[in-house]
Parts: sequence; C-alpha cells; structure tokens
Amino acid sequence: MMKILTIVGARPQLIKAAAISRAIRTVYSDRIEEVILHTGQHYDENMSEVFFTELSIPRPEINLNVGSGSHGSQTARMLEGVEQAILDHKPDALVIYGDTNSTCAGALAAAKLHVPVVHIEAGLRSFNKKMPEEVNRITADHMSTLLFSPNESGITNLLKEGFNTDAEAPHDIDNPKVYQCGDIMFDNSLHFSSLADGKSSIKQSLGLEKGSYILSTVHRPSNTDVPENLTDIFEAFLELADAGNTILMPLHPRTVAAMNRNLSPEVMARVESSKGIHLLPPASFLEIIDLEKNAKMLVSDSGGMQKEAFFFKKPCVVLRKETEWVELVENGNAILTGPNKSKILNAVAHFENASDLTFPSFYGDGKAAEFICGEILQQLSKD
Ligand code: UD1
Repeated sequence: MMKILTIVGARPQLIKAAAISRAIRTVYSDRIEEVILHTGQHYDENMSEVFFTELSIPRPEINLNVGSGSHGSQTARMLEGVEQAILDHKPDALVIYGDTNSTCAGALAAAKLHVPVVHIEAGLRSFNKKMPEEVNRITADHMSTLLFSPNESGITNLLKEGFNTDAEAPHDIDNPKVYQCGDIMFDNSLHFSSLADGKSSIKQSLGLEKGSYILSTVHRPSNTDVPENLTDIFEAFLELADAGNTILMPLHPRTVAAMNRNLSPEVMARVESSKGIHLLPPASFLEIIDLEKNAKMLVSDSGGMQKEAFFFKKPCVVLRKETEWVELVENGNAILTGPNKSKILNAVAHFENASDLTFPSFYGDGKAAEFICGEILQQLSKD
C-alpha cells in the first residue's frame, strides 16, 4: 500500500482534492492510502468546512490552523507543520495543488526531506512575478518529481525552463517527469454538474431567468488592495447595473474588507443601493456551479472560474492583465481587461453580441484524476 500526504489549505484546493480523493476511493482504494493535511489557510465555515461536507472529501487527519498572516509568517508556520507531518507519517509522496502559499510550503518541506513531490496543475505561468502565485508555482514545479500540467501551454512553459519531456524512469527531483494530463477541475465540473442543479436559491429569490445575469467574483490583491483599481471595477459594475444588468457577486472575505477600506463612502453607498448589484456571501462549489451554468457571462479575476465558464460554455471577462489560461483568450472565450472600466464595459458588450464562440477540448477527457493516481503508483510506489 502506498501512502500519499495531500496538502490543502485554500478553497480551490479543497475542490481539487475532491477529484483525486474520488479516484482513490473508486479505483485505487486497495493500493493508495491518502492522508490529508489542511494548513488552515482558509478557515471560515463557508471558505473551508462547507467543501468537505458537500464534496465528500475525507476529513483532514491534520489541521495546522495557521490562519491568515503576512506571506512570510503564514508560509513559515505551514512549512514547520508540514515538515513535522512528513516526519510523523513518512509518506511515499506528497501531493500539492496549484499555486497558493500552502502549495509552496508543502513543496519546500518535502523537497528538503527528500520526499517526492507530485504537483497537480504544474507548468502554468502568468509571467508576472509580482503575483505571489507565480512565485509559488515556479517554486513548486522546480521542487517536484512528477509534474501534471492541465494544458499544452503548461508543457511549453516547462520545456522553456529546462524540463525534459523525454526523461526516463526512475524519476526523482533531479530527473522529473512531466505530463499533459487534462484538468482535474474538468473532471469535477463533469462530476458535480448535475448535482449542482438548483443548489443556489438566490436566482429563485430574485426571480432570475436562465442567462439573464452576470456572475462576478473579485479577490486578487492587485484588484482589491489598490483603491483606484477596485473603484474602477465597481464604477464599471454600476454603469452595467444602471443599463439594466443584474450582477451577482459572491464575495471573498478579503474583498468585503477591501471594499470598506478602499471604496469611497460615495461609491460604496451607490453600490449598496444599486438595484442591479447583489453582494452575496461566498458560495459553495455546488452553488457556484449552479450560478455559472445559468449565467449570461462571468466577470472574474479567479483562475478557476475562467475555466469553469468555459466548461459550461459561457464567455468570461477576466479582470486581470494576464492569465495562465492563454488558450481561452486565444480562442476568444475570455477577454483580459485588467481593472479598467472602459475595457470591462467593452468586453461585456462584445460578449453580449457574440454568437460564434467555440469550445474545443483543451482540458482532457474528464479522467485526469484517475490517470494521475495511476502514474503516482507506477512511478513512485516502492512495492
Ligand atoms: C489564496 C491564494 C490565491 C487563491 C485564493 C482562493 C495565496 C498566495 N493566494 O488567496 O491564489 O486564488 O486563496 O480563494 O495563497 N480570510 C478570511 N477567512 C478565510 C480566509 C481568508 O477572512 O477563511 C481573509 C483574511 O483577511 C486574509 C485574506 O482573506 O488575510 C486573504 O487570505 P489568504 O489566504 O492570505 O489569501 P487569499 O486572498 O484567500
């Protein structure tokens, strides 16, 4: 029996972990034992607990309860905790997801203890090292033994950084193996899509028809923590609302705090009294899928939601200047606007009239998680 230690911490990682846990439960339960460590990076009920309940993810055996803090102190607390967990549980491999501080801490702790790291969502780059996520994902990739990229651009990026797609087994941190395997979030969207129907009650309570509203989330520090940027985004939303649009906004706690701090009282008052803008608590995964499937379009700075928009055949206005999901921009499914009011309004107007969008299969066949588990066993099992 092979033992893996899975590191989760931030909301999207809990969702991603559901796909791998499901593959282990349904296909590999006699060969892989999974121990889950939650760093506690996200801790509010609706940022963490709700996902375990809703998505049938096994309970974390270890919770470091690190909570919020500066990048340095948060990551340092995680590093210490993951190191101890590795020493206690002696896993054969450590599995990390994406690009958060929890990802980076897991990679560093395992690499120093010579435990092979499996990075799921490897190879993505924004080419903006001012984003903490870019620093985290580069670190994670270069500490890894097995790198699973969800798309072609991830492989291209890794090749440019010196990775070799023809490397032969046995693999270790100095001879890593790179795969393009599809996206476990596509697996999840397929699996949870029908379960999500009707999960969000807000559409009903507001009497919203299918395809009648814009779904928006904003949480990136570059948008929330720069007053002019947050103001520009909300000025755009106010103009859209004045023109008759309905905008549903489930809010990350960071955004609620930033709105109070960074919007002028005048803008805040207009947002709060706007009939078209609905500020909502964070949504669970099933609620957000239900909202995505029934939206007209998405307007978001989230990485995950850009792809979910695509999975459910909706266009997405991306409130960033760059994206890791370049294929969506190249294929016309997403438009990058940054926090620029006129670009946001133009992009929304463009998608209102776009009837020629196509949705090629960029992200695999919905079986990425099973493939990943099979490769972990084949490449890293000591049996
Ligand atoms: C983190 C990830 C980001 C990911 C996002 C998903 C890093 C560097 N960033 O950003 O890539 O897209 O998660 O949601 O790891 N807070 C709460 N309750 C919580 C969690 C956070 O109130 O349960 C508030 C705190 O004020 C905290 C702030 O949100 O300081 C930011 O949280 P943090 O975990 O540092 O980063 P995120 O913005 O969530």
